[in-house]
Amino acid sequence: MAELADAPDSGSGALRGVRVRLPPPAPKTKRMRFLIIGDIVGRPGRRAVARVIDEIRETEGVDAVIANVENAAGGFGITKKVYEELKGLGIDVFTSGNHIWDKKEVLQFIDGSPDLLRPANYPDGVPGRGYGVFEKGGRKFAVINLMGRVFMDYGLDNPFRVFDRVYETVSRETRIVVVDFHGEATSEKWAFAIYADGRASVVYGTHTHVPTADEMILKKGTAYVTDIGMTGPLYSVIGMRYREPIERFLLAMPRKFQVEEKEDVVFNAVIVEVEEDTGRAVSIKRIKRLLTWSSS
Ligand SMILES: [Fe+2]
Ligand SMILES: [Fe+2]
Repeated sequence: MAELADAPDSGSGALRGVRVRLPPPAPKTKRMRFLIIGDIVGRPGRRAVARVIDEIRETEGVDAVIANVENAAGGFGITKKVYEELKGLGIDVFTSGNHIWDKKEVLQFIDGSPDLLRPANYPDGVPGRGYGVFEKGGRKFAVINLMGRVFMDYGLDNPFRVFDRVYETVSRETRIVVVDFHGEATSEKWAFAIYADGRASVVYGTHTHVPTADEMILKKGTAYVTDIGMTGPLYSVIGMRYREPIERFLLAMPRKFQVEEKEDVVFNAVIVEVEEDTGRAVSIKRIKRLLTWSSS
């Protein structure tokens, strides 16, 4: 039977006192670095982004910023004002999910906002776009927004097959393909990531608001994390004041949910570095910041 050994990158210790002749460094390929922010919840989430985005952009050498904004306006949906506010903070592309339609006014501006995506596997005829090819600093990259179907009964088309078709289109323009897979089930996200490995540069999950610790580069070069987690109030039920959700669990009756405004806020994101020529990811790193309200 095969024995288990440490994987090559598991840090089993470096050689000491041995002179090693190193090969000359390989010429550096051009890379693009993305800051990708998980579901931004309400005003606390937006304030957290405003607080940290410039510093992260500078220290991490970020080329483009992508964020999921389905909960950005009062925890439900997106308004024109909030969209403009987040654009002003330097977010380049906005993805979403099942909450995209919560604020009715989105229907008035989504068609005229190519950088605001809704899941691409909504049926034909639905307003807005599910993907786009964008340009930043002379570099092109595609962003595709998909939504899962396991434990999410929204009548959407098959996200795997929609990805095949959309990839076919966008890959004519760029090798860099970023996918926000908005889904509930970890199994569906993992299965999709392996399915898209080698085609997508990055597959990341959103929707659960809970970060997972499984970030990795898959075998054919796709960076992956099952869920980035939310940017929003930490001591809450996925961003909402905890009292009403707990009552709903206790009584099985509907309750109105409100964004928790007083608790500390967590900023969850990933930094992904992608080779421009090949579209393969080189690294993925989770970022988590805890922010507290100050009276000054
Ligand atoms: Fe969400
Ligand atoms: Fe969602």
